[in-house]
Amino acid sequence: MKTLQDLWSKGKQFLGVDIPVMCGAMTWISESGLVSTVSNAGAFGCLAGGNMDPAQLVQEIVKTRQLTDKPFAVNLITIAPNFKKQLEMVSAQEVPFIVFAGGIPKVSDIQQARASGAKVLCFASNESIAKRLIDRGADALMLEGSEAGGHIGHVSLIILLQQVLFQVQNVPVFVAGGIGTGRIIPHLLLMGAVGVQLGTHFVLTDECNVHPNFKEAFIRARARDAIATPQIGSELHVVAVRALRNKGMDQFSDLQMRLIQSRKRGEISQEEAQFEVERYWVGALRRAAIDGDIEKGSLMAGQSVGLAQEIKPIRKMLADLTEEAERELHRMQDILT
Ligand SMILES: Cc1cc2nc3c(=O)[nH]c(=O)nc-3n(C[C@H](O)[C@H](O)[C@H](O)COP(=O)(O)O)c2cc1C
Repeated sequence: MKTLQDLWSKGKQFLGVDIPVMCGAMTWISESGLVSTVSNAGAFGCLAGGNMDPAQLVQEIVKTRQLTDKPFAVNLITIAPNFKKQLEMVSAQEVPFIVFAGGIPKVSDIQQARASGAKVLCFASNESIAKRLIDRGADALMLEGSEAGGHIGHVSLIILLQQVLFQVQNVPVFVAGGIGTGRIIPHLLLMGAVGVQLGTHFVLTDECNVHPNFKEAFIRARARDAIATPQIGSELHVVAVRALRNKGMDQFSDLQMRLIQSRKRGEISQEEAQFEVERYWVGALRRAAIDGDIEKGSLMAGQSVGLAQEIKPIRKMLADLTEEAERELHRMQDILT
């Protein structure tokens, strides 16, 4: 009989943790306190590089190291304006893991990260990107379905599982997007995942330092309230964002329309428009998560928000996830024997 420990042993080994559950990086939210608490509880924390000033990011790494001797990752967004500088300074810190998010990292970025001694995880949003990332030297992949909160790809997890997870054999694959119960975990492990990543549910922990209004909005929300921004017109290519419906989402639609008009008139380039969009999200997320303005700020959340009912201590959340996963595995074994 296989146990949960058997099923996720490759994830444990790869991350060097007892519980291969990753707390996905969340800009403004995943700071040294949250990251070290997650890692000290036996799971795996990811520090959000976001748009942070590189020197400040280094300070956060130093603080994380003061708070935990357990492994953690630094998440860098390849489309952030100061990405190159961040990568240079993070590499000098010799952190154990670097996660590249946002776009497809260049071979040189992956090499630079690996040369610093870090294991590299990259987001793969389809099969050909997965292959390219493995060729470029990624040590592991993250498949994140469009159910997730924050910046998202176009494809849901159920498709990515079939399109990518079932095809990739040579590197460990973690999965994310829509995971809100431990019960789903053994199913994902049996499909080939080595571990999982959650973001939305980690917001609903005592130790997550967001404004209480942000957490309350999550508790009230249903799955269908976590909507994705639409792609309008071919003039503007923006990465979609999933967040709770509010005035801030309406304001973003207005911004998108304005930028499309400016693009049509040839007033701004695609890069400038994208930069404008990202500046909007970084500011809007801060406004909601830190300042507590849940009307006009951005309440980035995944559809798994509909599976959350309460705020828990991180250790309790992880114990519940593990216990639910074990119970489900027994149930599956009973069915199969
Ligand atoms: C508020 C919020 C902010 C996020 N910021 C980032 C980020 O800065 N970098 C990143 O790679 N992913 C980011 N994500 C995605 C999470 O790391 C994680 O992959 C995702 O939340 C998993 O799906 P779930 O929301 O269904 O749990 C963010 C998600 C949320 C909810």
